[in-house]
Amino acid sequence: MNCKEFLDLGKQPIANGFLYKDEIKKEFFFNLKVGFDEETKLITQMGYVDPPLMFNKNYAYRGSMSKTMRDHFYGFSNSFKLKNKLQILEIGSNDGVFIKNWQPDQIIAVEPCSNFAKMTNEMGYKTYDEFWTMELADKIQKSHGKRDIIFAANCICHIPDLDNTFKAVESLLRDNGIFIFEDPSLASMINNNSYDQIYDEHPHIFSIIALDNILQRNGLQIVKVENLSVHGGSNRIYAQKLGNKIAGWYESVERNKTYERILGLDKFETFERFTKRVEQSKEDLVRILTQCKNEGKKVISYGATSKSTTIFNYCKIGTNLIEYITDTTPEKQGKLSPGMHIPIISPKIGFNNSVDYAYLGAWNFVKEISEKENKYLDRGGKFITHVPIVKFV
Ligand code: TYD
Repeated sequence: MNCKEFLDLGKQPIANGFLYKDEIKKEFFFNLKVGFDEETKLITQMGYVDPPLMFNKNYAYRGSMSKTMRDHFYGFSNSFKLKNKLQILEIGSNDGVFIKNWQPDQIIAVEPCSNFAKMTNEMGYKTYDEFWTMELADKIQKSHGKRDIIFAANCICHIPDLDNTFKAVESLLRDNGIFIFEDPSLASMINNNSYDQIYDEHPHIFSIIALDNILQRNGLQIVKVENLSVHGGSNRIYAQKLGNKIAGWYESVERNKTYERILGLDKFETFERFTKRVEQSKEDLVRILTQCKNEGKKVISYGATSKSTTIFNYCKIGTNLIEYITDTTPEKQGKLSPGMHIPIISPKIGFNNSVDYAYLGAWNFVKEISEKENKYLDRGGKFITHVPIVKFV
């Protein structure tokens, strides 16, 4: 790789490393810097955090915690179910939010966070409690044979070594099989100024251009792209072995690549300009929160997301500006946010009449949250977001 740095987000902790007070002393930090690889056009971190530090038995993020994501995977699984007994593998099955839409005899899962692997094994789905590697692909092939579909959602962009990842996929895929994966879209990040998509777990933010370059050198190619609204704008990529092309699909790949060239995602200068907007966003957010605080308003944050770990640590926002964070995930409640140590409590307790402003850590669920919290909005409560510019919602 020939990587040129364009963004320094400073000292950052493990984004999902929610912790208790007595764990603060041994908290891990790293320098979060991002670069552009001239060779493949990949946006990638200048150094990667060792995966076991992030993905282990204490992993807190649960895909099933939002209705949007439950419905998303239910709908997608149903669109495939009419096909006869496809043999599927999911890489990064988390708490089973995708696999539970399938019969246990047609799907195998891989999940290195053992708390979740245990959960889905107990649900009856064979789950390998391991990281995705060529060795694991070989082991699965010996026990279960090749797969028709290999699926991964919000997982491939978590893996530092993409060449090995794709080689292992290629080896386990049937000749006419499809590799389908979803990850946050670089085009959306640039359009939304959502620099909080960058944190330890997202060593890369994918453009279609970069992905196709890396897939192709590993025997795969993109045959179709779907633009999704989840996670603030994602792409669902369909890849097949080199040479396979499904009629009528390929146009979406060309269209996305053309759009990305118009946005300049294949040029370093685009990202230098992005950095300027990130710096402006930081200044604006700190100003607006300080203003609310100075007016004596109660400001909290809604959703203890990995994304907000980047924001709070980069902007140095702590309990000086945000009183606490509410989050529905039981594993996060009672703990402190990584790095800035803002307390996290259940919305049942914390999202009450005393709140004036809530910064939307989970801005990607703004629709679901606004519907759910309509009483808050009706009584004059306001959400604050930084996407695409800092503003009240
Ligand atoms: P998400 O945006 O998927 O997070 P990440 O940046 O970590 O990928 O996570 C949303 C978080 O917000 C999750 O911890 C659950 C929480 N949440 C609420 O507390 N209330 C809600 O209504 C919703 C939709 C999410």
